[in-house]
Amino acid sequence: DLLSALIRTRDEDGGRLSPDELIGMAFLLLVAGHETTVNLIGNGVRALLAHPGQLAALRADPDGLIDGAVEEMLRYDGPVQHATYRFAATDLELGGVTITAGSSVLVALAAADRDPARFAQPGPDVFDIRRTGPGHLAFGHGIHFCLGAPLARMEGRIALRALLERFPDLAGDPEAGPPDWLPGTLMRGVTRLPLRW
Ligand code: HEM
Repeated sequence: DLLSALIRTRDEDGGRLSPDELIGMAFLLLVAGHETTVNLIGNGVRALLAHPGQLAALRADPDGLIDGAVEEMLRYDGPVQHATYRFAATDLELGGVTITAGSSVLVALAAADRDPARFAQPGPDVFDIRRTGPGHLAFGHGIHFCLGAPLARMEGRIALRALLERFPDLAGDPEAGPPDWLPGTLMRGVTRLPLRW
């Protein structure tokens, strides 16, 4: 598998990766690359099943609606709740709050993606795969914008289309109780999502 190949690169191939590089690469693949996309798919399926009208529309026109559906899943219930810490270079005021030079700021992407001023139509808490208008912050913004965004979008589209095609009767399982959620504040996603088909 990929991780074994990377470890071999370090152990048997003249140490082409340093220990720090190997750990960094494993972190990138597992956390940045895998956990995120898994939860995009899980949260997206959960949102679709909770909105049968949206699910029916997507099933009826996957070619036309899958791109917008993935964007709306990222906005409505994105897998990454906040960016890495930012540090104020100078004293500044933001949203009526004074932030002093050197202090740290945690940018809540999930809150920004439910901003009523930005997502006024049809309202920030509405899940609407045909939504048009301003973009979301699920992949961050600026120089640290997610490097894997095109890959994650492609994986999301492929996985969701395949799932809907393969399981025409896919539905939540109301008797199995609510889903279990991941602990912590960084990642939003379920560890268990009971389904029926
Ligand atoms: C739905 C899936 C994904 C989401 C929601 C997501 C979200 C994010 C966010 C919010 C950031 C910015 C963090 C910040 O500004 O502090 C970021 C950065 C990053 N992401 Fe993703 N990500 C996803 C998938 C991936 C994948 C598949 C990869 C790689 C295979 C990846 C690699 C990276 C890397 C390397 C950065 C750091 C970029 C930099 O600092 O310049 N991500 N991601």
